[in-house]
Amino acid sequence: MAMENFKQFLFALSAAVSVGFVSIIFVLRWVFYFKEGLAWDGGFAEFNWHPVLIVTGFIFMQGIAIVVYRLPWTWKCSKLMMKFIHAGLNILAFIFAVISLVAVFDFHNAQIIPNMYSLHSWVGLAAVILYSLQLVLGVCIYLIPITPIYLRAAFMPLHVYSGLFIFASVIATALMGITEKLIFGLKYPKYKDSPPEANFVNVLGVLIVVFGAIILWIATRPSWKRPSEQVLRSLPTYRDGSAGTKMGTALSQQTDPIDPEGNGDARRRSGKLEDSGQVN
Ligand code: HEM
Ligand code: HEM
Repeated sequence: MAMENFKQFLFALSAAVSVGFVSIIFVLRWVFYFKEGLAWDGGFAEFNWHPVLIVTGFIFMQGIAIVVYRLPWTWKCSKLMMKFIHAGLNILAFIFAVISLVAVFDFHNAQIIPNMYSLHSWVGLAAVILYSLQLVLGVCIYLIPITPIYLRAAFMPLHVYSGLFIFASVIATALMGITEKLIFGLKYPKYKDSPPEANFVNVLGVLIVVFGAIILWIATRPSWKRPSEQVLRSLPTYRDGSAGTKMGTALSQQTDPIDPEGNGDARRRSGKLEDSGQVN
């Protein structure tokens, strides 16, 4: 038996990846076709790195990093390997976000525009700071092997909640940024007159919302969680790499002393635990 509702999972994942790719194409077309392109010269072309790096890195890469544990064909990989991929993608997304901030601050300073006056910049900077905190805590608690098991387990619900909260805040920030840029940038004709650029970039905003909605859907389905290490190891076929296809027989396992940050999926799948918190 495969992962529960495998076809729905595959559909949701393909939809997220496709919508994500189309968003990246949209932001590139906005910048190269409607705007000044990309450069590092203190002008508008430098500003343009801001939306490009945010959409490719802080939104798309972060979204993929969030669902990476859920891919059933990775369940045969070790948990440590998946942690490196999850952490690595998040670190890459953070680097993109930081460069995008350097671009916009540098642009503001070169043009003598005040810094940090907008709601967009307040919520955006707060999201980046929280994200860096999430990264540091994630590495310290789940990668460095000295953290006690009880702490790993206790921190997991907070890690998942804050991860999803930051991701949603980043999407909200991007929508504010897009709206601001359209209002500032469109002069003749104005934003309210719906020129082609306005409609095109409005669609980009909708695509970003849809991407976020699908990622949040995938990340909040208890039945699509990576099974705990104990469940995986109990499968006779684990070593030959087909564990992900043999889930049904092993889901009666209840506890997992060797996977403290695991997710209690067995209990949840057997219908006894409805919330999405991490319990063991
Ligand atoms: C400015 C963060 C996405 C458009 C800023 C500033 C920050 C920031 C901190 C202030 C820079 C300064 O004061 O010098 C973020 C974050 C984003 C994001 C964390 C992640 C979602 C976007 C997107 C756009 C955008 C997708 C679309 C074009 C702008 C504009 C400004 C700006 C027009 C200058 C006006 C202002 O300061 O509000 N952003 N931004 N931002 N951002 Fe973003
Ligand atoms: C799980 C977000 C950094 C370790 C999760 C989940 C989210 C998330 C939303 C839930 C995924 C699911 O339910 O399948 C983030 C964000 C990060 C970040 C936004 C960066 C800012 C890290 C780092 C580590 C880490 C650096 C260190 C290895 C874990 C672990 C899980 C997890 C072990 C549990 C996976 C499972 O057992 O299913 N993270 N995370 N995270 N994260 Fe992170």
